Amino acid sequence: MRNLITSGLKRLVKSESRYPRGSRQAHVVAVATVKGGVGKTTTSVNLAAALADGSNRRVLLIDLDAQGHCTTSLSAVLEDSGQSGASLHEILLSDEELEVLDAAVPTSIEGLDVTLGDPGLADAEGRISQKIGKELVLRDALKITRTHYDLILIDCPPNKGTLTLNALLAADQVLIPTDLSPLSVQGADQLVETVLTVRDRLQHPLEVLGVVLTRVDGRTVTLNSEILETIEEAWGELVMEQQIGINTRLAQAQLKGEPIFEHAPDCRGARHYRALAEEVWARLQGL
Ligand SMILES: Nc1ncnc2c1ncn2[C@@H]1O[C@H](COP(=O)(O)OP(=O)(O)OP(=O)(O)O)[C@@H](O)[C@H]1O
Ligand SMILES: [Mg+2]
Repeated sequence: MRNLITSGLKRLVKSESRYPRGSRQAHVVAVATVKGGVGKTTTSVNLAAALADGSNRRVLLIDLDAQGHCTTSLSAVLEDSGQSGASLHEILLSDEELEVLDAAVPTSIEGLDVTLGDPGLADAEGRISQKIGKELVLRDALKITRTHYDLILIDCPPNKGTLTLNALLAADQVLIPTDLSPLSVQGADQLVETVLTVRDRLQHPLEVLGVVLTRVDGRTVTLNSEILETIEEAWGELVMEQQIGINTRLAQAQLKGEPIFEHAPDCRGARHYRALAEEVWARLQGL
């Protein structure tokens, strides 16, 4: 007879969460664009590390891409939390009001937690699409989690699928990386269109934090300057002042499984990401 009472019905009468609220209120930033391979993960990982380390900020990096590249990029600094935890797709599919907090794992970088790469996200995407309010499951799973962090960065897959939409609906702001190839710029433009749809149709006041130019190669000056002109004309002040230059140390650090600041703290890539982190934080504070 007891089985007749569904968990949903129980939730109606008992609305208390099993998670204690924290005292923080995170800015949630999705790092997204439609094009692959433009530096979303490199940007997410190094921004998260730069904004956490030695700052007293608590930062959570959510690896929302089934490829699990954030986890690979941080494999050398992951700490064993001693908890088995739930995987992200289980949290998103559950009817039990689970929180992303359950999937967060600490790293040896002070203040930085990350959700472990979850290949199950690929299959789960279709099942999430069948839920009522399919774009809002991540937002719901961050309600309490947000109160435990100052910043939550979401590394998105390279498309406009349900997972990316969930990131956009969970986020206050979106950071759009693009390199200077025409196809990447087109991908960034498509993401801006999606942001407008999210605002108009889904009534979510998502803002573009900025467009960050990645993998900028100083040797291709003529092509760069033409594309740069187009970008600045289109997005003006939305373009972040700090560009990320091409730097093989960034790729090496990713292979080693550590942020650039552990791998080669004085290289150009590290300097660029440090400066970008300052600019991002200033924009988040409305400075
Ligand atoms: N500034 C840079 N200089 C040199 N290599 C870079 C730079 N940024 C990224 N890379 C390299 O480019 C490749 C793609 O970067 P990254 O994985 O960050 O892109 P992504 O947009 O997350 O890709 P995906 O769409 O597959 O998730 C990686 O091998 C990475 O190490
Ligand atoms: Mg990636």
